[in-house]
Amino acid sequence: MMSHYKAVIFDLDGVITDTAHYHYLAWKRLAESLDLPFDEAFNEQLKGVDRMGSLELILAQGSRSFTQEEKRALADAKNRHYVELIATMTPGDVLPGVLRALDEVRGAGLKIGLASVSKNAFTVLDKLGIRNRFDEVVDAALIANSKPHPEIFLTAARQLGVAAADCLGVEDAVAGVASIKDAGMVAVGVGSPQVLTRADVVIPSMEHFRLADY
Ligand code: BG6
Ligand code: MG
Repeated sequence: MMSHYKAVIFDLDGVITDTAHYHYLAWKRLAESLDLPFDEAFNEQLKGVDRMGSLELILAQGSRSFTQEEKRALADAKNRHYVELIATMTPGDVLPGVLRALDEVRGAGLKIGLASVSKNAFTVLDKLGIRNRFDEVVDAALIANSKPHPEIFLTAARQLGVAAADCLGVEDAVAGVASIKDAGMVAVGVGSPQVLTRADVVIPSMEHFRLADY
């Protein structure tokens, strides 16, 4: 099969595996410990946003101010909880349709990249046993600007040696779709078209991913 793309760059949390739910649970517990409101709708704004950026959005829901040191401690507490939640993940936690999609992309001769701002991305890929399926995985520690900034998708394209215009990006987050579009790529959203309004196409789950359709 021929494709007019040269690479597909995937997000991790919420696309490859359901770690978006674990991030949600960990932030919810932290927010509630501070008596701050937290629900699924608010959580949409956090998806794709890095750890400190997410914490700032949560703290902005209240009026109390925190020192940098206190913020660091809160972010560390959230991460400890998150790391506990992902500890039992196995290859069985790859979402349905993902392995088939990776095979389809590989079979079409395209390169495969991963663009996650999570500092836990390598750990999650190893737990899932799929790290070797990606030609390039961006190291989140080297990214200065979290999604929605296009830096991470542009970095993935550069690591793959492919022009941004020849890449397809796959994302479940509003901020992630913005990152793909502002990088000059075509965006496949995974989720709801009412939420992922900037995506070029939206599929309800990775089981519906068909490279030939985009
Ligand atoms: C993104 C998630 O992939 O990574 C966010 O969508 C998360 O919810 C961010 O906050 C940072 O993750 P981590 O593991 O570095 O705290
Ligand atoms: Mg995501």
